[in-house]
Amino acid sequence: MRLENKVAIITGGAGGIGYAAVKRFLKEGAKVAVVDYDKEQGEKIAADLGENVAFFAVDVSKLTEVKQMVEQVVAHFGKIDILVNNAGITRDATLVKMSEEDFEKVIQINLNGVYYCTQSVAPHMIAQGSGKIISTSSVSGVYGNFGQTNYAATKAAIIGMTKTWAKELGRKGINVNAVAPGFTATPMVEKMPEKVLQQMQGITSLQRLGKPEDIANAYLFLASDEASYITGHVLQVDGGIMM
Ligand code: NAI
Repeated sequence: MRLENKVAIITGGAGGIGYAAVKRFLKEGAKVAVVDYDKEQGEKIAADLGENVAFFAVDVSKLTEVKQMVEQVVAHFGKIDILVNNAGITRDATLVKMSEEDFEKVIQINLNGVYYCTQSVAPHMIAQGSGKIISTSSVSGVYGNFGQTNYAATKAAIIGMTKTWAKELGRKGINVNAVAPGFTATPMVEKMPEKVLQQMQGITSLQRLGKPEDIANAYLFLASDEASYITGHVLQVDGGIMM
């Protein structure tokens, strides 16, 4: 049990990679607060997975909702040991065709959302003198990606914030890291054309897309005591897409 007696918040926990992480963390003994704006799916998960899971219907891009959720998690489970900033969206278009609305929406959720959740959770971790913060970047944030001006900007920003927070919070006993997944088989990539997915698979050394569990395992490692001397790191989990 690598997360025994730990309390974790997993944003975007009702779908894709986040849901795989909820199940993985539970298996390792954690109590998990599933934070998602998909109320129907979130409530179903909480009902299916039992008393060590609580669902909070929250849009991470709304600061007041986030602050309220953090207080509710502390009231429900007593503390917060782990924050996984996993919620994210895509609204793809090439630079010239990208609308201001699509640009802003992705910034609000993928960037502001990570900032709001981390800023709201950090005081609790500082007070207890320990904590693990893991945020989900992307290979798009590391290398850029065709049609993803907005998304790549937010995922690169996560790397900058991760390193900044690692510097600020290290002395408080808090580890801050990012995971940069490659193309992973979830509802998010189902929106991509099959031809593009085939190409992405073709350029990985391992010749396959990632599974949600591959990314959940990386979250688990960084959340566990085994990663206690790792901070400010960006762990690429991408099947060797570029080296
Ligand atoms: P997904 O679309 O399958 O699931 C995302 C979950 O986040 C959904 O349950 C959704 O309801 C929730 N969500 C979205 N916006 C939210 C908001 N404002 N507030 C609360 N919940 C919200 O996506 P997937 O693939 O599981 O992605 C998880 C993370 O991994 C994202 O940050 C994504 O950018 C990142 N990622 C995914 C890759 C992939 O190939 N699937 C590759 C690289 C990074």
